[in-house]
Amino acid sequence: MLYYFKIAANILIRFAKAVFDLALFSVFVIQLTVRDLIYTVTNPFLPSRRVGNVIPRGYPGHGGSWPEYTAPKRGEDSRSPCPGLNALANHGISRLSNKTEGILPNNGKRITYTQLSHAIQHAYNLAPTLASQLTSAAKQLDQGRGWIDLHDLNVLNVVQHDASFTRPDIAFCPDQSYPHTDLVERLLDHASDGKHLSLADFSYYSGLRRAECKRSNGQYTLSGSFLHKMIGSGTSALMYSIFGGNIEALRVWLVDERFMDGWEPRNREALGHTIAQALATSLAVEFSIDEKQALRTGDVFYHK
Ligand code: HEM
Repeated sequence: MLYYFKIAANILIRFAKAVFDLALFSVFVIQLTVRDLIYTVTNPFLPSRRVGNVIPRGYPGHGGSWPEYTAPKRGEDSRSPCPGLNALANHGISRLSNKTEGILPNNGKRITYTQLSHAIQHAYNLAPTLASQLTSAAKQLDQGRGWIDLHDLNVLNVVQHDASFTRPDIAFCPDQSYPHTDLVERLLDHASDGKHLSLADFSYYSGLRRAECKRSNGQYTLSGSFLHKMIGSGTSALMYSIFGGNIEALRVWLVDERFMDGWEPRNREALGHTIAQALATSLAVEFSIDEKQALRTGDVFYHK
C-alpha cells in the first residue's frame, strides 16, 4: 500500500532541499565572483612577487626547494587523473607527519577541502578564489564525508573527461591515475618553437585529441558537454600561465608528476592568478579549437 502522506512529505522535503542548495550555490558563486573581480583589478597595481619568492616563505616549494619526491606505490597510494594534484602528493608529507600546510599527504588519501585548496593556492600561486573554485569541483564527490581520496577523481564527467592529453579515454584505460609517457611526449612534440607550447599549440593539440578520440572511442562523451570541453581548455590555460608552456618543466611534471628542481610558478601576480584570468585564457583556447583542422605534417590519429 502507498503512503500518500509520506510521498507528499518527501516531495516537499526534496523540493525545499533543492531550493536551499540552489540558494547556497548562488551565494557561493556571487561572493566568489565579487572577490575574484577585486583581486583581478587590484593585481596590476601591486608589485609582482619577486623571482625566488613566488611561493611564500615557510611553504613547500619556496625558492624552488620542494620536499623530497617519493613515487607512488601502485595498489597502495591513491592518485588522480590530475598531474597538478599528483605532483603535490608525490612531494607530499608522510602519513606519520601531521604537518599538512601547503602540500598533500603522500598516500593521497583522506584529503580535506581546506588542505586541497591551501596546497594548490600556494604551490601554483593561485588567488584564493581560483583555488576555491577548483576545489569545489572535487566537492561534488564528497558524499558528506568532508574529504576525498585522489583516486575518487577518476570518475568520468565530474571533472575527468575524454580526450585528455596524458591519459587514454577511460573506455580504454579504466585507471586514470597514471600518465602515459607516449601521450605526454606527443603533446610536448607539438611545441612549434621546440621549447614552449603556445596557446595555438594547445588549441591545435586539443582539436587533434578530440577528433581522434571521437573516431576511436564508441563511448566518447566530450562532444555533448561544453562544460567538460571548457575544463579541458582550462587545463591548457593553467599549463600556459603557470608553466609558460615550458616543455622541459612540463615533461618532469607530466611524466614523473614531480617538480623540476628549482621550479616555481611563472605567474607572479601579488594576489595570485585569478578565475577571471584563467577563464579568459581558457576561452581563447576553446574558441580556437577546430576538430576538422588540417593535420600538421607528420601527425596521424592515435588509436589504442
Ligand atoms: C582541487 C583542485 C583540482 C582538481 C579537483 C583537479 C582535478 C582534475 C581532474 C579530475 C583532471 C582530469 C581531467 C581530464 O580528464 O583530462 C585534471 C586534469 C588536469 N589538471 Fe587538475 N585538478 C585540480 C587542480 C589543478 C591545478 C591547480 C592544476 C595546475 C597547476 C591542474 C592541472 C591539470 C592538468 C594540466 C590536467 C590535464 C591532464 C590531461 O589532460 O591529461 N589541476 N584535474
